[in-house]
Amino acid sequence: MNVQIKKLDDFGRGIAFIDDKITFIPYVLENELVEYKITEKRKKYNQAEALSIFEKNENRIETRCPYFFVCGGCCLQHMNLLLEEQFKKDKVINILKKFAGIESYNLNFIGGDRYFYRNKITLTVENGKIGLLRERSNQLVEIDRCYLVHEQLNDIIKVLKVLVRKEMGISKIMLRLGYRTNEVMMAIVGKVKHIDDFLALSDSLIVNQKVVSKRYISSYIMDKKFCVGSSSFFQVNDQVVEYLYQEIINQIKHLNSKRVLDLYCGVGTIGISLSPYVDEVVGIEVVKEAIEDANYNKEINDIRNIRFIHSRVEDILDQLPTNYDTIIIDPPRSGLDRKTRDFLKRINSKYIIYISCDPITFARDLKDLKEKYQLLSIKLFNMFPGTYHVECLSLLSLKDV
Ligand SMILES: C[S@@+](CC[C@H](N)C(=O)[O-])C[C@H]1O[C@@H](n2cnc3c(N)ncnc32)[C@H](O)[C@@H]1O
Repeated sequence: MNVQIKKLDDFGRGIAFIDDKITFIPYVLENELVEYKITEKRKKYNQAEALSIFEKNENRIETRCPYFFVCGGCCLQHMNLLLEEQFKKDKVINILKKFAGIESYNLNFIGGDRYFYRNKITLTVENGKIGLLRERSNQLVEIDRCYLVHEQLNDIIKVLKVLVRKEMGISKIMLRLGYRTNEVMMAIVGKVKHIDDFLALSDSLIVNQKVVSKRYISSYIMDKKFCVGSSSFFQVNDQVVEYLYQEIINQIKHLNSKRVLDLYCGVGTIGISLSPYVDEVVGIEVVKEAIEDANYNKEINDIRNIRFIHSRVEDILDQLPTNYDTIIIDPPRSGLDRKTRDFLKRINSKYIIYISCDPITFARDLKDLKEKYQLLSIKLFNMFPGTYHVECLSLLSLKDV
């Protein structure tokens, strides 16, 4: 049985109508004519699998990764880059229109390398095998290499594949690579028998959150050095994060901002990067280890005009001064809570720079902030090529009252 794909949803799945019922089919593209098999029937929708494709979309390409159709970690590798960019632009435009009532057209899109860009991977270990968990399941997909992950980490995965055959007590291994330092962090969950094997592969080894060798690795973003512990957040795409931070610095210089609040600051990367251009920065972050790293990063970069506070953003807002001219917000996927949005509307800072990795919560927050702020620009950064995720950078200015 054949069906034509009408369009893609926000997760890159094809949408078709079979007997008038919406049907999701992964790994297909718009207008393709596919032979399908229904894999799951639900009350409101079906899931199906494409068995063969008769009329291919001109932007379809051969996928490089042998696990692409089984792993689910990335889902756009069958598109060429042109189509991936258009898909992400359209997705953000549609979401902003639907959830925030904002019409945006020519979104600027800044990309980077399509493969081997990630500086971090979390692997699952089971019965002497190592790999990734199939999307939305506990099924292990054994891998030799991941096409999204830096090749130096892929070389380590090949060695780990041999090592884990002798280790039956390990369940997870997180690998992280320092940019321009090539330092390797390995954080293991479980019982390790041959610890020397893992020490030989890493600069920083952590087992069950206990430090075995060194607590952190070092990495660079532009000319600043950052130490990162295993519990701290660090952006996964070293190339695109430099484009993103350079754009934030350009905006800060252009706006002539002097007093900056850096909410959800992680290990202090944004605040430290822009500190040479402003008088004062205050960073706020909930993870204690990240604040320890941020304070260390302030010292090693010899930065004097920045201060970090360990707190949930929503718990400290009422105690902060209200004279910041620019507030930078880079929250997790869940976006801003109501208390933080109310604070932003009350504080009357001239500008907000909002960095988001989830267009839906971003749109919800913009809809609320629109009462007091007008949207000046949105730029998209392809921080996660091959996946349906996209990073948005937006600039808002206080409306004249
Ligand atoms: C997307 S990351 C951004 C980190 C940093 N700005 C960067 O570019 O590396 C979000 C950060 O927010 C922190 N976070 C999450 N919820 C928080 C909260 N309620 N208050 C403060 N920080 C929070 C996380 O620990 C994480 O470090």
